[in-house]
Amino acid sequence: LNRTSFPPGFIFGSASSAYQYEGAAKEDGRGTSTWDTFTNSYPERIMDRSNADASINGYHMYKEDVGIMKNMNFDAYRFSISWSRILPSNVDKSLYFTQLYIYVHIYHCISSFSSSKKYTMSTEGRLSGGINQEGIKYYNNLINELLSNGVQPFATLFHWDFPQALEDEYGGFLSPQIVDDFRDFAELCFEEFGDRVKQWITLNEPSNYNLGSYAVGTFPPNRCSNWQNLNCTGGNSGIEPYIVAHHMLLAHAAAVQVYKTKYQVPLLLKRNQNISQEGKIGIALVTQWFVPTSDTKLDQNAAQRSLDFVLGWFMEPLTKGEYPKSMQSLVGSRLPKFSKEQARLLNGSFDFLGLNYYTAMYVSNAPNHSNVEPSYLTDSLANTTRAASFWLYVYPKGLQNLLLYIKKKYNNPIIYITENGVDEDNDPTLSLDQALMDVDRIKYHYQHLCHVLEAIRNGVNVKGYFAWSMFDNFEWNEGYTVRFGIYFVDYKNKFRRYSKLSAQWFQRFMKRF
Ligand code: GCO
Repeated sequence: LNRTSFPPGFIFGSASSAYQYEGAAKEDGRGTSTWDTFTNSYPERIMDRSNADASINGYHMYKEDVGIMKNMNFDAYRFSISWSRILPSNVDKSLYFTQLYIYVHIYHCISSFSSSKKYTMSTEGRLSGGINQEGIKYYNNLINELLSNGVQPFATLFHWDFPQALEDEYGGFLSPQIVDDFRDFAELCFEEFGDRVKQWITLNEPSNYNLGSYAVGTFPPNRCSNWQNLNCTGGNSGIEPYIVAHHMLLAHAAAVQVYKTKYQVPLLLKRNQNISQEGKIGIALVTQWFVPTSDTKLDQNAAQRSLDFVLGWFMEPLTKGEYPKSMQSLVGSRLPKFSKEQARLLNGSFDFLGLNYYTAMYVSNAPNHSNVEPSYLTDSLANTTRAASFWLYVYPKGLQNLLLYIKKKYNNPIIYITENGVDEDNDPTLSLDQALMDVDRIKYHYQHLCHVLEAIRNGVNVKGYFAWSMFDNFEWNEGYTVRFGIYFVDYKNKFRRYSKLSAQWFQRFMKRF
């Protein structure tokens, strides 16, 4: 198996996110994100009491890192843009007016030139902290470095590090205000980077953000609900996850609408000025594959309901403009509804689907759990190999099953596997040489790639595969206790990167002939 086994043009890349890679949390005008607040205020919520203030120092080491990607023969790199690095939203408001004043003047002076930037944001108030030019510069540098090394940028607009200023102001994704604000942030990114970034991902894993942040309370803003009968105190009656998901979907649709109407379609605005960026836009969803514990109709239906409650929650609105029927009947009046106009905007609002896949779960019917909306129970695949993360049981066939399911159910969309990977413990007793011997990771990627290939042979429209992740990094609640990289990061010694065995395997696999 190597890259030539895949259809021509198939893309191999690695994936990352801003909070997990960048560090430089307080540098060059970056504003505070909810993850900064969370890790610094509640260190006990992170397994090793760590935070990502420095993370793996990606902000300063991007050149070296892109060099490694090139050397590895990767075609693409998926990274996310830190919202609070670009719009810190915590600068004195007077600064904004100064900036606006200068901006309006400059705009008037240069509006006759085609290079002038024009923001049509409806709520420019959200830019009240002003645009942090240092942040823009960083992403420009990263993007330019990628392009000059032949690596295509795939940019994610939101990978969970939400600006604290907006959380404080109106409760973030709980408020409908987020829809306009996210669209404005997205538009700023299209305007600044879209001449070079041709692949956009609006949101990363809205289901995990939403459940982690508002159902189980493991992520900031640290709220929990009795969703799925979770026994948590300070619960919010199981309504917030649905509201947040609703706003996430609407925010996604609003960003896509701006992209499609203003940037994607060739548009002759002025004489001879074609501002089309001709890129593509999608969303990254995550789901496990669900294996019914028995062949009974009841358990099979339970497996279908679990898919509805994780993948369908987003895919049905994105393809039909409404939530899955099973959710509508089980969640009842707590499930928000889309207006006709919203449904129209959502329906078909993606050029491609990003799919993050790691693991599978058993599922069985749960008839007696009247309070459990999804009416199913999940269990880990305890009879298969487990990785370092407690939730990650290795089940490569699940990826193929999932791809075939999506092809059939959602009309064969273009799919990029935007994340797939496995971790090992960060074991301080190992020597460096030992820590680099990640034979299990080679097996993991090899097997998953075989199943992707099998799915392609069965007509699934998969166009690319991104490994999570190029480098070890900050793994949310697990901190640095696990390592997901195909490169090892030495946190004690200037964040030096060392290729693991899997990196060497990937390099050969991706050799261009
Ligand atoms: C994700 C996560 C990544 C994780 C990875 C491993 O998109 O789920 O965003 O950030 O690090 O999935 O758990």
